[in-house]
Amino acid sequence: MKVIIVSDKNHMGRVAADLIEADMRTKTPYVLGLATGSTPVPLYQELIRRNRETGLDFSTAISFNLDEYIGLEVTHDQSYRYFMNHELFNHININKDSTFVPDGLAENIEEVGKDYEKAIRAIGGIDYQVMGIGTNGHIGFNEPGSSLASRTRKVRLTENTILDNSRFFERKEDVPTDVITMGIGTILDTRKAMLLASGSNKAEAIAKSIEGPITATVPASSLQMHPNVTWIVTEDAAVNLQLEWN
Ligand code: PGA
Repeated sequence: MKVIIVSDKNHMGRVAADLIEADMRTKTPYVLGLATGSTPVPLYQELIRRNRETGLDFSTAISFNLDEYIGLEVTHDQSYRYFMNHELFNHININKDSTFVPDGLAENIEEVGKDYEKAIRAIGGIDYQVMGIGTNGHIGFNEPGSSLASRTRKVRLTENTILDNSRFFERKEDVPTDVITMGIGTILDTRKAMLLASGSNKAEAIAKSIEGPITATVPASSLQMHPNVTWIVTEDAAVNLQLEWN
């Protein structure tokens, strides 16, 4: 397990892009695991820049996103499909047909979860999973108490997450209560993983996840069991770490 402490969000984006770019150059087709939220935006901006300026090629890349709200149209500006198109896919040479986000509009979400797992397995697994962390320690939308062996499934959001995410919606009541998310077991199966965190509001979750006991109560602590995980954390999010990491 590696922890890289960086000065700010843009530095975080560059370090994350370096890791992904180096790994992408070793394998075709390359399978990215992607995340939404404000945290990965500097990484996506850096990947867009490299695609345009230095020829980082996504033409054969495949992507699977961690999660999606249940019930939001894909044209809704807070749906994660919309977010990914606007923050990344529309600006790089990836084939949109090779980008997957769980279908939060399907009648049978259980079936969607099973098919998503099958699709990931069929392609040979995810090479690099990118993720953020909730202030409550969630990864994807695996809220505290999620089984460490969980797979892609429907989850009910906690009040804490609804409140955190209400900043993106007009009213708190507009935040969907249910989501579909890859499970912790799905995330632990990825070949490499990176967790990005910036801002002092993540400091407590980061310290518990990196240096606390592995517990379903802090879902990101499960990454201590991941065979190849890198945490890229800004200084303000790293203030509660006790061990020497760099
Ligand atoms: P954020 O969300 O990047 O918007 O802080 C992270 C998360 O909830 O996983």
